[in-house]
Amino acid sequence: MLTGASETGRRGGVRHLVTTDGLTREDVFRWMRLAQTLRTLPRGVLAQRLAGRVIATLFYEPSTRTRLSFESAALKLGAHVVGAENAVENSSAKKGETLADVFRIVGAYADAIVVRHHEPYTMVEAASVAPVPIINAGAGWGEHPTQAMLDVYTIWRELGRVEGLHVAVMGDLKYGRTVHSLLNVLRLFPGIRVTLLHPPSLGLPETMAQRLKAEGLQLQEGGPLADVLPRVDVLYQTRIQRERLTSQDELDGASQYRIGPVELALLPAHARILHPLPRVDEIDPAVDDDPRAAYFRQAENGLYMRMAILDDLLGGDGR
Ligand code: NCD
Repeated sequence: MLTGASETGRRGGVRHLVTTDGLTREDVFRWMRLAQTLRTLPRGVLAQRLAGRVIATLFYEPSTRTRLSFESAALKLGAHVVGAENAVENSSAKKGETLADVFRIVGAYADAIVVRHHEPYTMVEAASVAPVPIINAGAGWGEHPTQAMLDVYTIWRELGRVEGLHVAVMGDLKYGRTVHSLLNVLRLFPGIRVTLLHPPSLGLPETMAQRLKAEGLQLQEGGPLADVLPRVDVLYQTRIQRERLTSQDELDGASQYRIGPVELALLPAHARILHPLPRVDEIDPAVDDDPRAAYFRQAENGLYMRMAILDDLLGGDGR
């Protein structure tokens, strides 16, 4: 179920963003250009775009950046925000209500629903009954489409292009939903090469890897960091998703996939390090001041990309 220029995922004209499946390169460029425009608009003009609209945020899993950037984006566009943080405890989920029912009901109050949930795939089906746009703000170990959009936006802003780049994704590729969505979006760009760097038990799920390859993404397993890092344009580092591990054995070898001054020295001068954050110990803070460390700029870009997505799905340009 998707959104954007394609008709996929439309129900009575409602466009959702619950998965990156079905997105087009044009959708990505439209949002990136809109994000660029919105970041230059005066505050008063911005606040007219979604004036009087109500955005609901429902977070069934913890979040700092995603929720606050969505809420800030909505407020800056002039919308009101209602919501439930820790929705597992503080909503009718506690009484066993399904996501589909939540979408129906909250969709009668709000003009869009931003939702983070622990189930990887229920959101796609549940969104099909929603009368307003549903935006996936992270679904279990499955997908995190708006993070992928801000990741690609960051690559584009930092390096001036997306096509033809060599991107290494490192860390927990099994449970890391941001990587799943990012790779599914990168496959839309010609000439992208992806190298996978991960502990033995935390590789990309096999069906996902097969599908991405079948759809034309050049995907390869990486060797030693000393061989791979000097050849990358983007190093996308991720946190081990400890809360999702099924056994502590899955952590074996994880300490090799950290970035410190030694790894930094291996990267080309033009390369960029991205990370969806939060970081734990996989990037040494000593790296933060290097101009190649783009993760704090990336988090800021999230505000503008989320503004663009809300604005587009809700017709902030007056549609
Ligand atoms: C990510 C997430 O929630 O998947 N965080 C985020 O949205 N910025 C990454 C993570 O939790 O590791």
